[in-house]
Amino acid sequence: MKGIILAGGSGTRLYPLTKSISKQMLPVYDKPMIYYPLSVLMLAGIKEVLIISSPRDIAGFLSLLGNGQKIGIKIEYAIQEEPNGLAEAFTIGESFIGSSPVALVLGDNIFYGSDFGNRLIDAAKLTSGALIFGCYVADPRPYGVLEVDGNLNVLSIEEKPEQPKSSFAIPGLYFFDNEVVEIAKKIEPSPRGEKEITSVIDDYLQRGKLNVKIMGRGLAWLDTGTHESLLDASNFVEAIQKRQGMYIACIEEIAFRRGYITREQLIEQASALMKTNYGQYLLDVANELTIMQRK
Ligand code: DAU
Repeated sequence: MKGIILAGGSGTRLYPLTKSISKQMLPVYDKPMIYYPLSVLMLAGIKEVLIISSPRDIAGFLSLLGNGQKIGIKIEYAIQEEPNGLAEAFTIGESFIGSSPVALVLGDNIFYGSDFGNRLIDAAKLTSGALIFGCYVADPRPYGVLEVDGNLNVLSIEEKPEQPKSSFAIPGLYFFDNEVVEIAKKIEPSPRGEKEITSVIDDYLQRGKLNVKIMGRGLAWLDTGTHESLLDASNFVEAIQKRQGMYIACIEEIAFRRGYITREQLIEQASALMKTNYGQYLLDVANELTIMQRK
């Protein structure tokens, strides 16, 4: 399974914050937003990642994450000239995807929850069809929304409906077989002018090839679409990290625990960050200090 992070877009809803930098580069508490979706792909066991962003912002991601060697994975980069919609990820990424299945995660989606890593590893075993998730939210109108029957079978999918047929929103994390590339090529822009991911998903639904897993209460899916929700996400990450003493989306820790990098490599990365709690945390992980032993 290969992975794509879509980190383009114009970010106009967060102006003036995003007037000169990418939304996915903004801080979510102590790390850039893109660390969160990247950590999702890493937790799924995906080691080949394509980051797609705008002509303006791609260099920033390259300078932040390089070729991925420091975290034991391979990162490539591609440009999306205009924000023409999420389905373009698969046509832009065609040569990167090759003959593999592919996971797509949106650069502004944050997930956190118990057992999420195991769910991701299961999801990444997909070789046929598509797998998406459904999350119960108070207001599903800004999202892709599922219509389900009493047994939670999906009947239809709508993008940003004014009158949603359920409270199950579709988060920005999707797993597809290789057919997605050809399907994406055929997608026509919606009335709002975007090649919608929901049109791609609908193709799988119509062919009986869509699998939907409902995420229960134990999983937090956070939005970063407005100034308020961005601050909420930062506060959430701070609260969990302080309380539990374990970091969310610490990509170097995941690389170490998954065996992608050695203890020595982790210590080397920590030493460059020693003025921060993040660097100290990496050192503690390298030294396998238990939470009780940490100051
Ligand atoms: O967050 C989940 C939702 O994401 C889904 O429920 C919707 O079905 C899906 O369409 C999408 O809706 P949004 O309105 O949140 O999409 P937005 O335009 O904000 O873009 C999501 C991310 O993808 C954001 O980080 C910017 C990036 N993006 C977006 C577009 C349209 C690109 O990189 N290129 C694009 O062309």
